[in-house]
Amino acid sequence: MNKRAERKIEHIQHALSTGQQRTNGFSDVTFVHQSLPNLSTSNIDLSTKVGELTLSSPLFINAMTGGGGEDTVIINEALSNAASEANIAVAVGSQMSAIKDNKERPSYEVMRKVNKNGVIFANLGSEATVDQANIAIDMIEANAIQIHLNVVQELVMPEGDRDFTDALIRIERIVKGVQVPVIVKEVGFGMNREVARQLMDIGVSAIDVGGFGGTNFSKIENKRRNQVLSYFDQWGITTAASIAEVSSIGNKVSIIGSGGIQSSLDLAKSIALGASAAGVAGYLLKIFIENGYDELVLEIKNMLEDLTFIMTALGARTINDLQNAPLVISGSTHHWLTERGIN
Ligand code: FNR
Repeated sequence: MNKRAERKIEHIQHALSTGQQRTNGFSDVTFVHQSLPNLSTSNIDLSTKVGELTLSSPLFINAMTGGGGEDTVIINEALSNAASEANIAVAVGSQMSAIKDNKERPSYEVMRKVNKNGVIFANLGSEATVDQANIAIDMIEANAIQIHLNVVQELVMPEGDRDFTDALIRIERIVKGVQVPVIVKEVGFGMNREVARQLMDIGVSAIDVGGFGGTNFSKIENKRRNQVLSYFDQWGITTAASIAEVSSIGNKVSIIGSGGIQSSLDLAKSIALGASAAGVAGYLLKIFIENGYDELVLEIKNMLEDLTFIMTALGARTINDLQNAPLVISGSTHHWLTERGIN
């Protein structure tokens, strides 16, 4: 196994063993109960828009692994099959390894092979050129491309990048040079409103906040090599605070909630805070690896059904109604938003 493949397998193992945290801020967010919702569960419409894309539901499987040989082929095939079966979107993991080495392509291509008509997102880092973005899109006939920002993860890796200059310029070139919507995402450290505004101004379609409180790449990288750059372990903006931050800049850019989402209630709260969709990564990977494919599909279907129950209880027929559902925000999320002048 090559070094990159080894790293990917280690990421999966440590993502599972460092556990999925529950510090994403959603426990500070409470819905205001509605006793007269005047709705039936059969009225609920889960369809949503992310930028120019229409999705049949707001839940999707977020970018995980790509490259790395047999194991990742099996994982990616299962994730994409499950997305197809449950009719949700799915993102591939970073495709840079396949751009650099053709032998790695099958582990990405399999996702389109088993999911011919579904919505699939391509994925690259902000070091990518326009040509590389177009190769990644064509490789899987992607409906959109995610560009990930992972500064802290790189810094924590001894072999990681150290130069983060001009990322915004490269992203702008990609926005102008590809034919599909561009989603810019974090990987678990959250996004603030100033960065969101910069991204909105260069025309990205959607911002995936990738908030703190779920998969923690600082802990994962530190664990991989028993090193202690522990100052990054608690670093980041929680998912709840991040969504509220980005939502405060207006609705010209779609918001995706992600980072530690493990239930329909987290998903519903993401939407009520301003997101149009929510991505789940580590939680679903863990279910697949520990319990298998059937449980993975069942969990996704249960999450969708639970979301219809929550929306019914709130009297929210559509995702747009849910975005306007009243909330009370308490605790450290309230404190954060007050300090940041967001209400
Ligand atoms: C990831 N994530 C990720 N993100 C990305 O943009 N490109 C990638 O290649 C990967 N690879 C990857 C591998 C593994 C094993 C995990 C668990 C995660 C990050 C992922 O998309 C997401 O942003 C974070 O994991 C936070 O969401 P969760 O896991 O808390 O739901």
